[in-house]
Amino acid sequence: MEYPFTESYKIKMVESLYRSTKQERLEWIREAHYNLFKLRSSQVFIDLLTDSGTGAMSDKQWSAMMLGDESYAGATSFFKMKEAIQNITGFPMFLPTHQGRAAENVLFSALLKEGDVVPGNSHFDTTKGHIEVRKAKAVDCTIDEAFETQTIVPFKGNVCINKLSKAIEQYGAENIPCIVVTVTNNTAGGQPVSMKNMREVYNLAKSFKIPVVMDSARFAENAYFIKLREEGYAHKTIKEIALEMFTYADIMTMSCKKDAIVNMGGFIAMRDEEIYNKCSVFNIVFEGYLTYGGMSGRDMNALAVGLDEGTEFTYLETRIKQVEHLGNQLIEWGIPIQRPVGGHAIFVDAKKFLPNVPVEQFIAQVLAVELYVEAGVRGVEVGTLLADRDPVTKIDRYPKLEFLRLAIPRRVYTNNHIDVVAIGLKNIWDRRDSIKTGFKIVKEAPIMRHFTVDLERV
Ligand code: F0G
Repeated sequence: MEYPFTESYKIKMVESLYRSTKQERLEWIREAHYNLFKLRSSQVFIDLLTDSGTGAMSDKQWSAMMLGDESYAGATSFFKMKEAIQNITGFPMFLPTHQGRAAENVLFSALLKEGDVVPGNSHFDTTKGHIEVRKAKAVDCTIDEAFETQTIVPFKGNVCINKLSKAIEQYGAENIPCIVVTVTNNTAGGQPVSMKNMREVYNLAKSFKIPVVMDSARFAENAYFIKLREEGYAHKTIKEIALEMFTYADIMTMSCKKDAIVNMGGFIAMRDEEIYNKCSVFNIVFEGYLTYGGMSGRDMNALAVGLDEGTEFTYLETRIKQVEHLGNQLIEWGIPIQRPVGGHAIFVDAKKFLPNVPVEQFIAQVLAVELYVEAGVRGVEVGTLLADRDPVTKIDRYPKLEFLRLAIPRRVYTNNHIDVVAIGLKNIWDRRDSIKTGFKIVKEAPIMRHFTVDLERV
């Protein structure tokens, strides 16, 4: 008999879960104004809100924490992190920050001014937020196929070179301080960007002297897909692929809470000394001194080990196969999800799932609340609530797709937990025709409203 696929690790420490009742969940979600961010984690059975900072660290990471050097300046932990970053990304200079958006804050403080334009492939919401608060504009140049959930292409996260060229022509290279390439493309469904596409973007940007910033939160998962799907990479290691990826960027930002498998941390890395110097000033003002930037020494140590573990093939294979396990089950039942399955999450196509709910009533949020009440599973809306209002006209922006994202934490849940998620969705799928109404907003913040919004049933 053939052996089943097994995880590349075993479990040393466990955390209890509370199995709540449907009645309890109905009450809790009403008290939370139908906003899943406002639930207590103790009210959640399986938490797929995010894969960010929610991973389980290894024995090697925990032991590295004990060796953390908490010196304010010149800590050995800083140099361990520097060495890991140099080895894995090839970038010679870096600044630690407390997380990914802090890296964006520092970098964009140095690069952006009012009226600038930043093209990219589906900027993540904090990236877009940092662009828009500076009264600059984020222009999405993702390929069209990314918006058709049932179209199967291997690199659905790619930048459309044609759209990018047009954006450069329309806005003028002098108004584009950088292009942001996000790997994997989170918003489009954790979809990878091909090496060929990164190369093309970089060459185009070079010809206009525009720097490329790689938003690298999930670069290792992206490298895994390149190894599996792109011609010429099957025999290369993840680390070799990652090194090549970073040659197509001038600057990188990273939320290390994803592929470096730490609970907190981030950095900016660059080759240009002038950019380093500019960013250094903002780093000291916003984050902390140059050799800790908002992180503790022990966290920098764990991060250095995590970068190494997170770029190991066997680990990535275990992780991405679990995401596929959920995706394949849903596909088998005919549940519409973004295909092919991405690296860190399943993105359920809520418009196709709940065709009777009007788009103004936040379809994906309706599905998120249904899944919570049904099975105690917390996902997150990636739809109209997240898309926010247009910063100038204040009119709601309706994205092409309404997704319920189920992000899977790294090394945390077993496939039994994953099966509960699948069955929860299936039970809703079977009664989907009866779900016809959604929510209206009763309170919202002027920017990034989805975190704090209060909703009421229509
Ligand atoms: N870039 C990408 C592609 C991200 O997915 C995130 C965070 C960030 C930047 C910001 O990093 O959270 O460390 O400040 N994504 C999380 C998510 C929050 O749930 O997808 P951060």
